[in-house]
Amino acid sequence: MKKFTIGAALFSMMFTGINAQTLKSPDGKFEANFQLKNGVPFYNLKYNGNVVVEDSKLGLRLFKDSSIKFASEIAKPEDASFDLNNGFTKTAEKRDSKNETWQPILGEKKNYINDYNELAITLNQTSSDRNIIIKFRLFNDGLGFRYEFPQQKNLNYFVIREEDSEIDFPTDMKAWWIVADYDSQEYQYQTTKISEIPTQWPKAYDSNASQTLIKNAVQSPLMLKKEGKEPLYVNVGEAAVLDYPASHLEVDAQNFKFKTHLTADRQGAKAYVQTPSTTPWRTIIVSPKAEVVMDSKMMFNLNEPTKYKDTSYIKPTKYMGVWWEMIIGKSQWAYSTAENVHIDKTDFSKLTPNGKHAANNTKVKEYIDFASANGFQGLLIEGWNTGWEDWFGHSKEFVFDFITPYPDFDIKMLNDYAHSKNVDLIMHHETSGSATNYERWADKAFQLMNKYGYKSVKTGYVGDIIPRGEHHYSQWTNNHYYRIAEKANEYKIMVNSHESVRPGGESRTYPNWISAEAARGTEYEAFGGNNPDHHVILPFTRWMGGSMDYTPGIFQTKLDYYFPGDKRFVKTTLAKQLALYVTMYMPLQMAADLPENYAKHMDAFQFIKDVAADWDDTKILSAEPGEYVHTARKAKGTDNWFVGGITDENARDYTVDFSFLDKGKKYEATVYEDGKDADYITNPQSYKIYKKTVDSKTKLPIHLVRSGGYAISLKPIK
Ligand code: NOJ
Ligand code: CA
Repeated sequence: MKKFTIGAALFSMMFTGINAQTLKSPDGKFEANFQLKNGVPFYNLKYNGNVVVEDSKLGLRLFKDSSIKFASEIAKPEDASFDLNNGFTKTAEKRDSKNETWQPILGEKKNYINDYNELAITLNQTSSDRNIIIKFRLFNDGLGFRYEFPQQKNLNYFVIREEDSEIDFPTDMKAWWIVADYDSQEYQYQTTKISEIPTQWPKAYDSNASQTLIKNAVQSPLMLKKEGKEPLYVNVGEAAVLDYPASHLEVDAQNFKFKTHLTADRQGAKAYVQTPSTTPWRTIIVSPKAEVVMDSKMMFNLNEPTKYKDTSYIKPTKYMGVWWEMIIGKSQWAYSTAENVHIDKTDFSKLTPNGKHAANNTKVKEYIDFASANGFQGLLIEGWNTGWEDWFGHSKEFVFDFITPYPDFDIKMLNDYAHSKNVDLIMHHETSGSATNYERWADKAFQLMNKYGYKSVKTGYVGDIIPRGEHHYSQWTNNHYYRIAEKANEYKIMVNSHESVRPGGESRTYPNWISAEAARGTEYEAFGGNNPDHHVILPFTRWMGGSMDYTPGIFQTKLDYYFPGDKRFVKTTLAKQLALYVTMYMPLQMAADLPENYAKHMDAFQFIKDVAADWDDTKILSAEPGEYVHTARKAKGTDNWFVGGITDENARDYTVDFSFLDKGKKYEATVYEDGKDADYITNPQSYKIYKKTVDSKTKLPIHLVRSGGYAISLKPIK
């Protein structure tokens, strides 16, 4: 238990005294308090009168020299005299509020509601005569706060050593977390108490092509639950991470306290700031209902509306891909047997083909035929361009040019063929982390896409970042992702990035960055597996700030089908794979399996063909992190609904209550559920499909086997 002294009790009683500034949420249920204690800023948060976050410190530590030289300034002992965390007096206080409804270009609902009360406190550090503002926004689902740095005589340029924003919880809570890392988010989730994180941490990761682990720290969004008679769900995240590094959360396990830890850059500094400027928002989403936390749009609300003039090219896209066969090792991205190639010198037509290159004219045409016959708008092709022979792990800067196809990939013919069948090819730009090289080639690469009619690009950042020493989530690299999104917008191209920074609602401002991976996706089913509870944790963590390109839809879950004796398998039933199309919000929706596997189950495949990718409404019917998620969504511009439900490693019974449907209307429901004898290990392909007429009064009991699920499509009967 946390030590609670009389001194501390007195302190916190004083807190709500006359010196504290209090902010209430629009519905009055939340209260946030700000106070200076001996010149040091603190805040706390209450819900229904109960303390959710105890008095927690705010502030930043800075380097003394704003033009720090590699190693020299960093090597000096830390000098607190330049920090922005003490010696403050309050000089102004401003209040504001907003209640607006806005429409995301692509989203889970037609309307997002942005309703908050705001408190901005101006603080002056007397000794240095520098001013900062701490801004709080209190919504009906929790708190956001950030630091603002107005331009002023004594604060123009500075370098952040660390942001020390604390979130101090009064009790131990259950936590769903992944290890902190400056370069990878592709980890399995752990479920422990906050107090258990340090002991579990060393056992909580596997290796990655680029990895810089931060001991005893976890990534955000972090999901927490206060258990007991009156449970409370809490999500800790960040929003609008622009011109700033992504943050991690250091854990103080004895005090159930977290503190921000920013991703370092190649020099070991955190952020280079020129005023006027603001930090990202720190977010604390709170509700007694898990469903409300999962449904929160706070992170999006804390981002600015887009300034893009034309967003008409941003469209939901369902796609297939020449992809899974490389991931499992059946075929290859590379064309030849060479091991050392030079993009600008090697004559690829003279190399010996390895016989396993998937992105070849014949195979791509077959994929186009299948995608077209089944109504998919897009087909991703990876391995189309030269350079895959030595694509990562060599710190090679000029690794791809993004414009030169391999000799067996006829880019004009294949695009013409695809267009004649109403399919758009999806471009692939793997950068291998060489961001400098990608920036150098981006214009030419996007011009090539425009020339042949590609509408979207999947980017990738496997391996260590170049500039060497930079990290995947440092300030420079985050700025790179936004430069690419903006450049893609100039060419009217949508972006889906892999291995990039996790989103914090920035798609409101950059709506053409429609999706990102930024977590452990389906590919890991072939690289060590995803636990059965992975899919019922992700919506509470990675998904809080934006959609994920999870790439579901694997029907042939056992890989010994391809390679006798292979023990690898996708740890879900086939029916659960269908449900993921509803439980995971994805405006860019992949059907990731091979056409031959869908061809064997066309009845089940029908659901993937029918399901929408953009929505007018979403209802989280029932959800518990790490256990189950049941979601209903209404397809954009139609009266069709889709329902999906999934479970972790435990079998469950659930009754779907259709009261979300329009009263008095009848719907034809097609139900896809686990077969009686289905089991994710022994019998994953057993499923049952049936039709049923339902209305808003119907209650439908469904059995989900372990790591199983169900999917329902509903069409109004005219
Ligand atoms: C990792 C990505 O997540 C995966 O989807 C892609 O196929 C490979 N990199 C190659 O770019
Ligand atoms: Ca990946």
